[in-house]
Amino acid sequence: MFKSCFIYGCGLFSFLILISGIALAFSNVFPKLVQSVVEKEIVLKNGTEAFDAWEDPPAPIYMQFYFFNLTNPLEVLDGDRPAVLEVGPYTYREYRPMEEVTFQDNGTKVSAVNTKTYIFQRDMSRGPESELIRTVNVPAVTVMDQFKDHPIIANLISLYLKGEGEGLFVTRTVGELLWGYEDALLGAIHKLKPDVDPVFGLFYKSNATNDGEYVFLTGQQDYKDFARVDTWNGQSSLNWWTSDECNMINGTNGASFHSALTKNEILQMFSSDLCRSLYAVFEKDVAVKGLPGYRFVPPSQVFANASVNPSNAGFCVPAGNCLGSGVLNVKPCKQGAPIIMSSPHFYQGDEKFVRAVFGMRPQKEYHQTFIDINPLTGIVLRAAKRLQVNVFVEKITTFSQTENVTNVVFPVLYLNESVVIDDSSVAKLNVVLMEQNVLTNVPFILIGIGIILGGVFMLLVCRHKMPQGTAAERQPLLAS
Ligand SMILES: *[C@@H]1O[C@H](CO)[C@@H](O)[C@H](O)[C@H]1NC(C)=O
Ligand SMILES: *[C@@H]1O[C@H](CO)[C@@H](O)[C@H](O)[C@H]1NC(C)=O
Ligand SMILES: *[C@@H]1O[C@H](CO)[C@@H](O)[C@H](O)[C@H]1NC(C)=O
Ligand SMILES: *[C@@H]1O[C@H](CO)[C@@H](O)[C@H](O)[C@H]1NC(C)=O
Ligand SMILES: *[C@@H]1O[C@H](CO)[C@@H](O)[C@H](O)[C@H]1NC(C)=O
Ligand SMILES: *[C@@H]1O[C@H](CO)[C@@H](O)[C@H](O)[C@H]1NC(C)=O
Ligand SMILES: *[C@@H]1O[C@H](CO)[C@@H](O)[C@H](O)[C@H]1NC(C)=O
Repeated sequence: MFKSCFIYGCGLFSFLILISGIALAFSNVFPKLVQSVVEKEIVLKNGTEAFDAWEDPPAPIYMQFYFFNLTNPLEVLDGDRPAVLEVGPYTYREYRPMEEVTFQDNGTKVSAVNTKTYIFQRDMSRGPESELIRTVNVPAVTVMDQFKDHPIIANLISLYLKGEGEGLFVTRTVGELLWGYEDALLGAIHKLKPDVDPVFGLFYKSNATNDGEYVFLTGQQDYKDFARVDTWNGQSSLNWWTSDECNMINGTNGASFHSALTKNEILQMFSSDLCRSLYAVFEKDVAVKGLPGYRFVPPSQVFANASVNPSNAGFCVPAGNCLGSGVLNVKPCKQGAPIIMSSPHFYQGDEKFVRAVFGMRPQKEYHQTFIDINPLTGIVLRAAKRLQVNVFVEKITTFSQTENVTNVVFPVLYLNESVVIDDSSVAKLNVVLMEQNVLTNVPFILIGIGIILGGVFMLLVCRHKMPQGTAAERQPLLAS
């Protein structure tokens, strides 16, 4: 009696386990549970790990510069195409803690400034910052561009440059080109117009400075808004890409260089929304230090010409004067410096830019910007922002320096700002992923247990029934 009770109890139990396993598998309860636990952690709140990582990113960020050293300046002055040699990297460790952190609106928003400091890493660089690079004389080109319609002033400037022994090209150290040097021509103009800064550098005043106040959403109301930029210097982030590129150039003149890394971190927090984003598109699955990730890349329209992407029309300067696909003329951002942004080596750009400069070899692997994100947590596993700074060198007949040159988008340098998740974050993420794995497999484990118990039940039933059956068979035998 007790034995059969046990057997049928066992059968019922295995059946219930099987049913609940199947129900759980179909209802997706456990994955949802994991997701909601993760979502609770993804909020900028004093004390959460997400907040700590946001406030002071644990993984080292590196900014690497690659210059294009001009090898044939005399030929270029005679109208030949420039031949350049890529030299680099010159690597800086980038520190970018959030400062002046203040929570607003019941913790739904947080404001902060992001001060960036660059420290040279000799061991990760090709050579010291004192290495010489021959490239285009950006201050001279800028001034020439501004006075091209004033023959008399143009003549004076031409003479001045000759007197100083300067021309269309300069040879300066890496440190000077990046962080600033006193330029003779700008110095002379400074004496007449004191608001013109006599110092020029592509990243002048970008070190140990910030680019103003950001207001971020904390993700308290919706985890998908985690660390998304609400406003920057009071301006909405709708025109984000534009501000980013402009600000990079403004960085050459006072403000600072803003990184797309944050932009992407901001835009791309969660897989469900990623594919719909305008700014980055899913490319493929990747693995970073054994962690699963999705790779997102900027769509090629980002640099497309205005007929393909009308929102880039603002980069056609003067209006309607578009250079072509793959380059953005950011002249309007800065007072007149004819600076043009592109992908390194004009990757994804018009063939004509690549052909115009000897030494351009666009390669997806090296020149693409990308961000790899862990789909469960939205954590950035690896990212590389790659941008090239070019100068538009134009034939200006009023200047003896440029009277014979061929118009060209001249590459000065490209940068690679990259980050890879640090090992302690990998360990933490691995624990979360393992828990997720176990939890999402609970229904299947239950189904398995149900099946095994069911098997045991069958076995027990057979064994329980067997002796009875034999006895029943024998009984008539005995009786007869
Ligand atoms: C976070 O909490 C710590 C300790 O309670 C406090 O010292 C710190 O000022 C807080 N930070 C912010 C941004 O409120
Ligand atoms: C903050 O929360 C309180 C109480 O829930 C509410 O009365 C107040 O309006 C909220 N303030 C803001 C700025 O949301
Ligand atoms: C940036 O500033 C920091 C601190 O002010 C300084 O140590 C560092 O050398 C500077 N980096 C460059 C590239 O000038
Ligand atoms: C760049 O070219 C100049 C001129 O030929 C040369 O002096 C300099 O050493 C080169 N720089 C590097 C880093 O090779
Ligand atoms: C860049 O600087 C120019 C002139 O200084 C200014 O008009 C423009 O608004 C700035 N752009 C951004 C994005 O800050
Ligand atoms: C814009 O790009 C498209 C595709 O690359 C090309 O067909 C078109 O001629 C370009 N238009 C201009 C004005 O460069
Ligand atoms: C950055 O990009 C350059 C060019 O593709 C590459 O050589 C370099 O290894 C990259 N740096 C890092 C840290 O990934």
